[in-house]
Amino acid sequence: MAHIWRTLSFFVFLLPAVHVQDNKYLTAIIGETVQILCSLNTTESLKTENISVEWATSEGLIIHSFVKGVDNLSNQAPQFEGRTQLFRHELSRGNFSLRLSNVSVADEGEFVCSYYDGVPTNGSRVLHHQYLHVESDNCLTAIIGETVQIPCTLNTEESLKTENISVEWATSEGLIIHSFVKGVDNLSNQAPQFEGRPQLFRHELSRGNFSLRLSNVSVTDVGKFVCSYYDEVSTTGSRVLSMQCLQVADHYSDPVCEPTSPAKFTCTSTGGFPKPKVHWSVNKELLKDSSQVDTTLSTDSRGRYSVTSILTMNVTGKISVSFTIENKSLRETRTSPETEHLVTIKKPSYNYTGLVIGLSVLGIVLFIALTVKARVTIWRRMMMMKKKKNVTQFVQKEDNDHQVPLKQGPNAEQWESETLVVNAKEEG
Ligand SMILES: *[C@@H]1O[C@H](CO)[C@@H](O)[C@H](O)[C@H]1NC(C)=O
Ligand SMILES: *[C@@H]1O[C@H](CO)[C@@H](O)[C@H](O)[C@H]1NC(C)=O
Ligand SMILES: *[C@@H]1O[C@H](CO)[C@@H](O)[C@H](O)[C@H]1NC(C)=O
Ligand SMILES: *[C@@H]1O[C@H](CO)[C@@H](O)[C@H](O)[C@H]1NC(C)=O
Ligand SMILES: *[C@@H]1O[C@H](CO)[C@@H](O)[C@H](O)[C@H]1NC(C)=O
Ligand SMILES: *[C@@H]1O[C@H](CO)[C@@H](O)[C@H](O)[C@H]1NC(C)=O
Ligand SMILES: *[C@@H]1O[C@H](CO)[C@@H](O)[C@H](O)[C@H]1NC(C)=O
Ligand SMILES: *[C@@H]1O[C@H](CO)[C@@H](O)[C@H](O)[C@H]1NC(C)=O
Ligand SMILES: *[C@@H]1O[C@H](CO)[C@@H](O)[C@H](O)[C@H]1NC(C)=O
Ligand SMILES: *[C@@H]1O[C@H](CO)[C@@H](O)[C@H](O)[C@H]1NC(C)=O
Ligand SMILES: *[C@@H]1O[C@H](CO)[C@@H](O)[C@H](O)[C@H]1NC(C)=O
Ligand SMILES: *[C@@H]1O[C@H](CO)[C@@H](O)[C@H](O)[C@H]1NC(C)=O
Repeated sequence: MAHIWRTLSFFVFLLPAVHVQDNKYLTAIIGETVQILCSLNTTESLKTENISVEWATSEGLIIHSFVKGVDNLSNQAPQFEGRTQLFRHELSRGNFSLRLSNVSVADEGEFVCSYYDGVPTNGSRVLHHQYLHVESDNCLTAIIGETVQIPCTLNTEESLKTENISVEWATSEGLIIHSFVKGVDNLSNQAPQFEGRPQLFRHELSRGNFSLRLSNVSVTDVGKFVCSYYDEVSTTGSRVLSMQCLQVADHYSDPVCEPTSPAKFTCTSTGGFPKPKVHWSVNKELLKDSSQVDTTLSTDSRGRYSVTSILTMNVTGKISVSFTIENKSLRETRTSPETEHLVTIKKPSYNYTGLVIGLSVLGIVLFIALTVKARVTIWRRMMMMKKKKNVTQFVQKEDNDHQVPLKQGPNAEQWESETLVVNAKEEG
């Protein structure tokens, strides 16, 4: 029991070390040259003819062999031919770094540097192992909300005992996705965004299949997933077995288009990821000029995009349009049905608007002026009426051409308004 506890605590102690080591994996770009470090801690200068160094992959393919001061490339794996080199002037200082040129996707994996000091009993010893990650666009694509399986395998001939297996899945930023320590899930360090979603395949573990199943994929899962194996025999801690890039996507709905004003078409498509590429076709010809297009994006609660694109036409006539949305990561293109509409463009009317407003204001001013005048007239008449008893006579005298018989009005209101009309005629 005490023994188990000791090994367990030894192991747990090793776990955080992974994230401190920032050269855990080296990243290279296809076609470039990369330098993979390896050095022997030695104070004395080594004699070149005594140095034997071997660079190999974790699968045992020989990358570069240097035997007793001489390159021996007879065993070199063909894919490394002509691409490897040691630094001759550095060897005596114990610097056995490897230069690898024209990096290819197939180079991804672990590079192991071993030193053989020529003493038969000493054999060779592993000085360093380095995971090389090659940037490429062969990302796994997962659909939002669905489950993805991320591969990771340890090449092993013998069957592993589950209680001896320790595997850690983490992001390249160091967030722990899933920790499996000596046959038991240990989720105490799991990053919250992965809670309840990852799972290993229990029955596959003994075969060295440490693939991860991640359910309910979300847009925040985009990144690199690193699978590390803790080999308790070796004292070098963890070994990166794989690094897999994950991108997420979702399908845009078939775009729907409709005319939304005499000269506008509006198309919408929803629920896609990542941001789309959109284009319009007008009368079956690709619209190259984007100045007539206004496209807006919005996101839903799961980070998926909805697209609304408005096309404003500046020509009249029967026009047929279609709208295409392209999902770059799914290599998926969706096009709306052709939508036909008779586009009519109203002449700009703002010049007349000013005139109409001006005339209206003038009208109102006149109206007010006339009303005031009318009231004054009425008031005057009222005064007159008080002086003269014969009202009809007065009206005939003053306004005889209008023939407004005051007595006919049923009330004063009507009389006033009639007077107003008459006066307005006079003024106009
Ligand atoms: C190299 O060896 C010396 C003494 O042997 C030791 O003090 C030093 O820490 C070692 N350096 C490394 C990087 O291991
Ligand atoms: C190193 O090389 C010298 C001569 O080149 C040889 O005498 C010596 O034994 C070698 N040392 C080892 C450890 O092989
Ligand atoms: C290179 O290594 C192979 C086997 O490892 C051996 O048969 C061959 O003689 C070596 N060549 C030289 C030049 O040392
Ligand atoms: C080993 O040599 C290479 C090439 O000169 C150099 O870039 C690297 O820093 C050296 N490594 C050490 C540990 O000295
Ligand atoms: C680099 O490698 C690729 C194959 O991976 C090969 O086609 C190309 O010719 C190589 N380039 C150089 C400069 O060696
Ligand atoms: C054998 O290796 C050990 C350390 O691994 C080293 O201390 C010792 O000097 C080596 N023996 C010879 C003869 O080089
Ligand atoms: C694997 O586990 C068994 C018992 O579970 C143990 O005896 C053995 O030493 C372990 N192997 C390693 C390499 O730790
Ligand atoms: C899980 O790991 C943490 C630290 O990494 C440790 O404190 C804890 O005891 C472990 N739990 C189990 C059940 O092994
Ligand atoms: C690992 O296990 C999973 C689940 O059973 C399977 O789909 C996958 O093909 C296996 N991988 C290998 C390399 O066997
Ligand atoms: C999946 O994740 C989303 C958040 O990204 C959450 O709202 C939803 O409830 C989850 N669905 C399931 C079935 O767990
Ligand atoms: C319509 O607008 C586009 C871009 O603003 C312009 O290139 C084109 O000449 C216009 N066509 C007409 C008939 O005004
Ligand atoms: C659409 O999704 C596919 C993956 O199925 C992807 O390869 C493609 O790049 C996506 N296209 C866009 C524009 O996102």
